Amino acid sequence: MSQLVDRFNRVHDYLRISVTDRCNLRCVYCMPPEGVQFMDHHQLLTYEQIEEVVRVGASLGIRKIRLTGGEPLVRRDLEVLVEKLSRIEGIKDIALTTNAMFLAQKAEVLKKAGLTRVNVSLDSLRHDRFKEITRGGDLKKVLDGIDAAYRVGFSPIKINTVLMKGFNDDEIGDFLRMTIDQPVQVRFIEYMPIGHADETWKSGYLSLELVKEKAKELGFELEESGEVFGNGPSENFRIKGAKGSIGFIHPISDHFCANCNRLRLTSDGYIKPCLYWQEELNVKPYLGDEEGLKQLYYKALNMKPENHEMAKTLNNEELSHIPTQRRMSQIGG
Ligand code: GTP
Ligand code: 5AD
Ligand code: SF4
Repeated sequence: MSQLVDRFNRVHDYLRISVTDRCNLRCVYCMPPEGVQFMDHHQLLTYEQIEEVVRVGASLGIRKIRLTGGEPLVRRDLEVLVEKLSRIEGIKDIALTTNAMFLAQKAEVLKKAGLTRVNVSLDSLRHDRFKEITRGGDLKKVLDGIDAAYRVGFSPIKINTVLMKGFNDDEIGDFLRMTIDQPVQVRFIEYMPIGHADETWKSGYLSLELVKEKAKELGFELEESGEVFGNGPSENFRIKGAKGSIGFIHPISDHFCANCNRLRLTSDGYIKPCLYWQEELNVKPYLGDEEGLKQLYYKALNMKPENHEMAKTLNNEELSHIPTQRRMSQIGG
């Protein structure tokens, strides 16, 4: 059986596909107040083209797909893509990362089309604050979306919470408590300097050690949770006796690059070996050319660096490569 192995012996079976750079929200850590210039529709890969890239990837060892954005549910009829991908031999997991504003309407058709898992970005459990962080989002819609996803059978649903100083660090206890009675996995994520790294990041970054300290202070005993429902970098724990669990994604304080198993495909058709660095390869010249696409996957693996150097930007240290100029909304996390 084929495997995609890079220079550091990492096996790549996970492809994150950004289907659009557009979003119905403008989270403060992701976009400037005026929004960003979106790509023209004609720059985006069509669903047929994405299918072709995945089909070749699957023949080489890709098994898991995650659809991201921007916000993937703003791309029309996403279930059509899910259906196409679910028919590809070798693909075993098709997951979605969404802000859930449209999830209540879409959960059922996505489930029917073959979507297997849903992760929801949610940085505050307070209505007014959620609106502020997302610049206009409606927390009720998100919570309704999560409920709808449960009702149609997605479980466990993961909540992605980017921890930010002065924004939601006072809600750590509420997020931890949420896992006691509900079968959710709350994943705390360290804020990363992607694309336009600036002073907002330096002043907003917090190490996830804070969450562990807070749990201790609240008397919650965290035990390791052996369950693995995912392909990503999360380390999983559980409050003793809780229905749900807690994940830690700590790219800055303790990076997990040695276990990286993923490649990315941007909405405009570039294979991106690493979230952090600028190197990318354009798939468009190779569409319709199976051998050419295969070689592109191998080339992407060969140019994948050993690790990111995000922590260096905290101390203004010199970097070994050029960091990506794409914003997080143009990569999909
Ligand atoms: P599961 O398959 O459910 O484990 O999902 P996932 O964690 O792979 O995907 P998700 O889109 O929910 O991402 C959660 C967080 O992890 C986001 O903030 C991503 O940006 C971050 N993340 C995912 N992959 C990487 C990576 O390769 N490097 C870094 N630094 N962060 C990543
Ligand atoms: N640092 C960490 N996570 C981020 N996300 C978006 N921007 C950042 C950032 N700068 C998260 C979103 C979403 C996932 C795809 O990435 O909240 O859950
Ligand atoms: Fe949209 Fe996600 Fe960026 Fe928020 S973090 S603006 S939901 S792409």
